[in-house]
Parts: sequence; structure tokens; C-alpha cells
Amino acid sequence: MVVFVVVLLPAGVCRYPLGMSGGQIQDEDISASSQWSESTAARYGRLDFEEGDGAWCPEITVEPDHLNEFLQIDLRSLHFITLVGTQGRHAGGIGNEFAQMYKIKYSRDGSRWISWRNRQGKQVIEGNRNAYDIVLKDLEPPIVARFVRFMPVTDHSMNVCMRVELYGCEWLDGLVSYNAPIGEHMTLAGSSVYLNDSVYDGALVHSMTEGLGQLTDGVCGLDDFTVSRVYSVWPGYDYVGWNNESFPNGYVEIMFEFDRTRNFTSMKVHCNNMVSKHVKVFRQVVCYFRSDLDWEVSPLSFSPVEHLTNSNAHFVTVNLAHHMASAIKCQFYFSEAWMLFSEITFQSDTAMYNTTLAPSKPKLPSNTQPVDDSNTRILIGCLVAIIFILVAIIVIILWRQVWQKMLEKATRRMLDDELTASLSIQSETFTYSHNNNPQSSSVSEQESSSTYERIFPLGPDYQEPSRLISKLPEFTQTSEEPVVQDSVPHYAEADIVNLQGVTGGNTYAIPAVTMDLLSGKDVAVEEFPRKLLTFKEKLGEGQFGEVHLCEAEGMQEFMNKEFKFDYPEEEPVLVAVKMLRSDANKNARNDFLKEIKIMSRLKDPNIVRLLAVCIYSDPLCMITEYMENGDLNQFLSKHEPEGQLALLSNAPTVSFENLCYMATQIASGMKYLSSLNFVHRDLATRNCLVGKNYTIKIADFGMSRNLYSGDYYPVLPIRWMSWESILLGKFTTASDVWAFGVTLWEILNFCKEQPYSQLTDEQVIENTGEFFRDQKRQIYLPQPVLCPDTLYRVMLTCWRRNTKDRPSFQEIHRALLDKSCLTEEDNSV
Ligand SMILES: *[C@@H]1O[C@H](CO)[C@@H](O)[C@H](O)[C@H]1NC(C)=O
Ligand SMILES: *[C@@H]1O[C@H](CO)[C@@H](O)[C@H](O)[C@H]1NC(C)=O
Ligand SMILES: *[C@@H]1O[C@H](CO)[C@@H](O)[C@H](O)[C@H]1NC(C)=O
Ligand SMILES: *[C@@H]1O[C@H](CO)[C@@H](O)[C@H](O)[C@H]1NC(C)=O
Repeated sequence: MVVFVVVLLPAGVCRYPLGMSGGQIQDEDISASSQWSESTAARYGRLDFEEGDGAWCPEITVEPDHLNEFLQIDLRSLHFITLVGTQGRHAGGIGNEFAQMYKIKYSRDGSRWISWRNRQGKQVIEGNRNAYDIVLKDLEPPIVARFVRFMPVTDHSMNVCMRVELYGCEWLDGLVSYNAPIGEHMTLAGSSVYLNDSVYDGALVHSMTEGLGQLTDGVCGLDDFTVSRVYSVWPGYDYVGWNNESFPNGYVEIMFEFDRTRNFTSMKVHCNNMVSKHVKVFRQVVCYFRSDLDWEVSPLSFSPVEHLTNSNAHFVTVNLAHHMASAIKCQFYFSEAWMLFSEITFQSDTAMYNTTLAPSKPKLPSNTQPVDDSNTRILIGCLVAIIFILVAIIVIILWRQVWQKMLEKATRRMLDDELTASLSIQSETFTYSHNNNPQSSSVSEQESSSTYERIFPLGPDYQEPSRLISKLPEFTQTSEEPVVQDSVPHYAEADIVNLQGVTGGNTYAIPAVTMDLLSGKDVAVEEFPRKLLTFKEKLGEGQFGEVHLCEAEGMQEFMNKEFKFDYPEEEPVLVAVKMLRSDANKNARNDFLKEIKIMSRLKDPNIVRLLAVCIYSDPLCMITEYMENGDLNQFLSKHEPEGQLALLSNAPTVSFENLCYMATQIASGMKYLSSLNFVHRDLATRNCLVGKNYTIKIADFGMSRNLYSGDYYPVLPIRWMSWESILLGKFTTASDVWAFGVTLWEILNFCKEQPYSQLTDEQVIENTGEFFRDQKRQIYLPQPVLCPDTLYRVMLTCWRRNTKDRPSFQEIHRALLDKSCLTEEDNSV
């Protein structure tokens, strides 16, 4: 059965690996109930690690009625955990132990432990089927915890070993619990609507105490509260609600407790407002603050502006005016018979966090700041990607072929269903850093530009992920058709090769891909002696690599015969050298090798060629063609269209004909890539290189950006991305076509303007939602001055909502050759 769940921020974006595989979680923070031996101690329970004997294994066989074994992780601070991953013990083929099932327990304070249950109340999670695949499970509902325990469960006596990872982000709200009266049930036309808090994890006796639940699970309810976002649960599921008859004082009091004293900016309460069913936003809220031990005497009071016409569910923002508190008690006054809340979030002292890169949000002027009322604002407040996920929990297997097949199916099924998505962003919620761990290489906003490992340089065109709705790993599938077949080598399967003579007899573990390269079987690139490279200039850098402009001496000898003749004999050749730092992690190395493998197979006049590699020793390098005029973006921005203006300013010009020639070449290169079912993912003028006589070669294949792996969390070029890439993480040739439309637009604007330059990143993402909804509210890029109607029509077809309605690169190429470009001459001359 398909279960739909709507994911809001932070659940949508908050899926970073928390550091078992990346090493940010220290050994001493990983413990266990027992260990079978020193070499299977808790610290070996890291996902994707092969150290020790390859996993954590408890001392004794796990029995069906003996479920006391656990692997425990201390995250050192509260985290919002949305996803867990498990793997068995493979140990290079020696191990074959894994957990078929497991449970999760968590704790915020280390003393009270709570058993996780899914939305249907089930505790047991399906685990692994073999010792090597990684199985990821969404936690629905997500949990807020500092400590997490994985407890293997079996139905028969068996040896169990586990490697695990947690995914999520730091819990910036700092909310540790809310205490509230129990939600009630409403009788509506004879049937019941249950407005209880069904995922509350505290005590539920006469009231809810010491827990968190639906008000913090990241899921906002719909306008019609009787319809749930979560499938196969009861009506009213998303809301917690109360009736005025049960509250003679006229208000419901909710107390919020926090991890420490904080300086509060605001509180956002997502309220239903279905007046026709006697449900309405609260009339007034009065909040008391407690710092240290005493409650402040004078409370803060706020009344939202009435909505006379609008009955949409929405966030009401209450300005908390920088009160300092470790607990807040709010009395929400009824304005109708019912009051229904689905989410409450708090914004506090971001100064405590390193948010230097975060955009500063305008301060609310006063308590009388009205509620966020327009639809868009609700969307913004309601936060991001409402995407129906197949949740009966999708198993993702990182063994890529299997993985991709499964994902394809999942995505198709999802797209077949009627989707409604809304999205938006709330940046301040996601600016955080691992203050507790300075070495952390994961998620700090400050570090982010260097952290999201990109081998290519970061430019302003890339959107920081933490400010962006993101990607659900379930849908980070690459193509409807199989992509160029390439399996990512796994170090477990690394061949051990003795490279005598090259390295002085050291033994290196070299993954399978490298072997292909070395044996020269199907890839025709050769190892180039590093010493023949002369450094000229740094072209760019990322955390794990740099791109240098170099002169290569005697390159001709190393080049594939096919394109040897492009270069004059004897002269040093200018080349771009992309270099992976020697301290790059395993994933970065594997992706780098994968990119080499793919690039080595691409042979087209409009695609940058891989000339040679240096992979016998670190740092790994790939040597590609360099084009003398740099990238198309900076090339065009230094030029002007032909005409009076250019004559006056004496600037170099490019004729319309040549613009078209360049665009046609890009279409041709893309036609070639698409014929291989290869998805570029990052087509833009900045990734096209310009040679002599306006020749163009497409470069920067996005392979290095492994979209799933968390330490590769994507840095996304949202202004070039199709709606489905942004909302569903779906990258296909059709999304490349979309990006081509944007690239064409850039070209006709001489790259003088960024796409959607008048929109903020948040608005771009909102606009993406409009493309998805397709209610004619989406904003298209405007027709550039130079652009004839025929060519603009080509662009518009690239931005059609349905991927099937977009043209293929073949059609685009044909159109550019045939008419679009020529028409301009007829018109303009
Ligand atoms: C909430 O109400 C539903 C429907 O009656 C019930 O099945 C569920 O157990 C209740 N949950 C709690 C936590 O009371
Ligand atoms: C709370 O934060 C605001 C803005 O950062 C600051 O002006 C104010 O002094 C802070 N209040 C306290 C008590 O630190
Ligand atoms: C509850 O609200 C309804 C509708 O506004 C009102 O008629 C009724 O008097 C209220 N009851 C109490 C006890 O305040
Ligand atoms: C911010 O980060 C810097 C180093 O990156 C650290 O020294 C500083 O203490 C951090 N600030 C806070 C408030 O944690």
C-alpha cells in the first residue's frame, strides 16, 4: 500500500549524515550493550566502514525473546533525525551477519528512553537482507533526540552485526518538550474526527507532559482538517485540537520547555482556519516567560489579524520580542468553538550559531505585525517541499544498479499519482553548525562553501543546500533510461595490485575502475607523468580538489591517436588539470574515478575531452582540454551585440549569427550526450568552454556531485534547474533540456543578467512550485531583446511542465539549424 506523507522543513532538507560514516561522531560517543570481541566493538558500527572485523557485533546470539542488545550513539546535542541507515558485516566477503529487523530507542536527556513507533504504531523496522547493502529507512515521524539506540530484533536465534548511520540535522528550535491538554475528538456529521496528538512521545494521562509530537513533526495540516496528509490514518490526524466547552477560562495553555535559556525572536503556530466547521485561528495569545526559575511578571500578548475571507490553514507569527527564557507558557484564546494546531516552531538567538552566511531576515516591527496572510506567505511559512513520498518505507539500496531500478519505479509510481506540492523556504531554521564538534565537516553554514564537497569551484550560481528545499534521497534518481552503465567501485571489492616500478613496490588498494583504466581495456586514456606538467594558474577550487591551468610537455605522446593531430607536435599544450586532494575521502575518490571513466568514453567535437590522467599516485588528476577563450559566461559578458552601441563603446562584439552558432553547438553536444542517455545535470554557459572561431565544448560533468551521499550534499544551480529536479530530485535528459532553455536565454542576453535576477532564491523556489501547480502563475524568463520570436518559442518549449512535452535535443538542434536562427537575419537585417 502506498502511504503518502508530506514532508516539510526541516524533514525535507534535513537529511545530512550525522557522522558515523564521515567520522564526525567520535569513537567514545559510540557504545553498545556488549561486544563479541575487541574487533567488533561499538566503534566499528559505522556505516560503510570496514575497519576492525567490519561491524559491531554483540556478545551473544540475538534471540527472539532477548532483545536487550543495542548500539548507542550520543550526538552530543539534540538533533532532528529523519532517516536511518543500516548495513551488516561484510568484511570483504568474510562476514555474513546482519540485522533483518531492528527497533529504535531514543532519548533527549539520557535517562528517559522512548521507543520509536511509526505513524501506524509499529515499532519494528525492516532491516537488511544481506551483509553489504545499505538500507535506508525514513523515520516517519522523525525524532528529536540526543541519544539513539539501534536494537536488533530477530524471529529466530541468529548472530547479528550492524553498521549504522543517522541522518538529520541539529535541532535549532531547542524545544525539549511541550505540555498541553490532550487533544479532543470532534463529531462532524455523525463521524468522528480525532484531534489527539497521535505521535506524542511523553506521558499521556490527564494531559500531555514531557514529550514532543505532532506539533513538532514537520508536517503541516491541510486546509481541510478532516483530510489527512498521511494516508491510512484517521481523519484529523495532522491536527491537535480543542473545544471551547472543555476550557471554561476560554483558553488552552501550552507550556514549552527548552534545552537552555534562549533569546526568542518569534513563534510560528500553524493553525487551521476552517470557519465553516467552527474552527478558527486563536483570538489572542498571552505568553509568559521563565528564565532561571522565575516567571516574568508581565506577559506578552498578541492578537492576530482577522481573516474575513481566507479560510486557509496558515502560520501565525507571534513576535516574541527578544524575551530571554528557558520555558514559555502560552495561553491561546478561542475565537470559535474549535482551535486546531498542526505545527509550532520557535526562532531564537541565532547569534549563538555561526550564521555568517545566512541571509538576515527582516525583523518584525512590532507585536502588531499581522499574520502571514497571502498564500505565498503560508507556503513560505509552511516550509518547503510537500511531496508525496511513498512511505510504506522505501528501501534504497546503494548498490547502484539495483538502487536505480527501484528508484525509477518509485518515482514513476509517484508521478502517476495526482501530486500537489507546495514549497518554500525558511532559511533561518537551517543555519546551524556543529558547534560541539569543531572538526565536523558536515553541516555548518559557515563552512558550507568548502564543505559540500565539490571538486569543481563553487560559483555564485550555486545555491547553498541548507537554504534550499532539497532532495529526498528516494528520488535522486538520475534518468528514466539507464545512465551510462558504470558501477561505483567499493573499497570492499578493491583489488590489491602491486605497482612495482611506479611506486617502489608499495602495495595499493585500487578500486576496480582504476584497474580498467590501467589495463586500458575499454578506456583509452593514459597515465601522464606528473613532472611534465607546469603549473600556470589556478582556475578554481573546492574542498576536495582544485582545477589548474597547466602546460603539458609532450602531451602528444600520451594522447589517444584519434585526436593527437589537433595539437602541434613538440609544443607544450595548455591543459586544465583537475586534481583531487590527497586527503579526499573515499567517496570523493570513487566519484572522481567514476568521472574519469565516463569522460574517457565521451567523444564528440562539442564535448571537452579527457586527454590523460595521473592515477598511479596521489593526488589523482584528470587532464582535459583547455579552450583559450575560457568559459562562455565570462566570454559573452565581455562582449556586446553588434550595433551602434558597440561601435560607440568600442567593445568587442559577437554577431547574432555567431551566438546562434554557439547555441547550435551546445545543442549538438547535448544531442550526443543524450544519445548515450547521459544526463549532464549542470548545463549553463559557465560550463561551456569557448575556443577559436566560436567553437564550443561542453564541460563540467556533474558526476562528481553525488547527489545522494550526504557529504556530497548538492550545491544546486537552482536557476537552471527544472521544477522536477528541484522538487523531486529528478534529473533526466528532459531536465537538461530545461537547462538548455535557460542557457540559450543567457546567451541571448550576452550573460549580462542572471536568470530571474529580480527574484530571490526563495522566490525562485516558489516559482518552481508554480511551474509544478501549473495554474498560470509561474513566471517565465522574459524574451531577451535580441531574441526573435521563433527562438523564444524554442525556449518556452524547453520549460514545459510535462517532460514529455519538451523537445529532444535532436529536435532542438534541428530547429536551431533550420529556422530559428535564420529567421532573425530575415527579420533584423
Ligand atoms: C488517537 O485517536 C486514535 C483514533 O481514536 C487512536 O487510535 C489513537 O490510539 C489515539 N492516540 C493516542 C496517542 O491517544
Ligand atoms: C537578544 O537578541 C537581540 C538581537 O540579537 C539583542 O539586541 C538583545 O540584546 C538580546 N537580549 C539579551 C537579553 O541578550
Ligand atoms: C464556544 O464557542 C461557541 C461559538 O463561538 C459559542 O457559541 C459558545 O458560547 C462558546 N462556549 C463557551 C463555553 O465559551
Ligand atoms: C563560530 O565558529 C568559530 C570557528 O569557526 C568559533 O571559534 C566560534 O566559537 C563559533 N561561534 C559560536 C558562537 O559558536
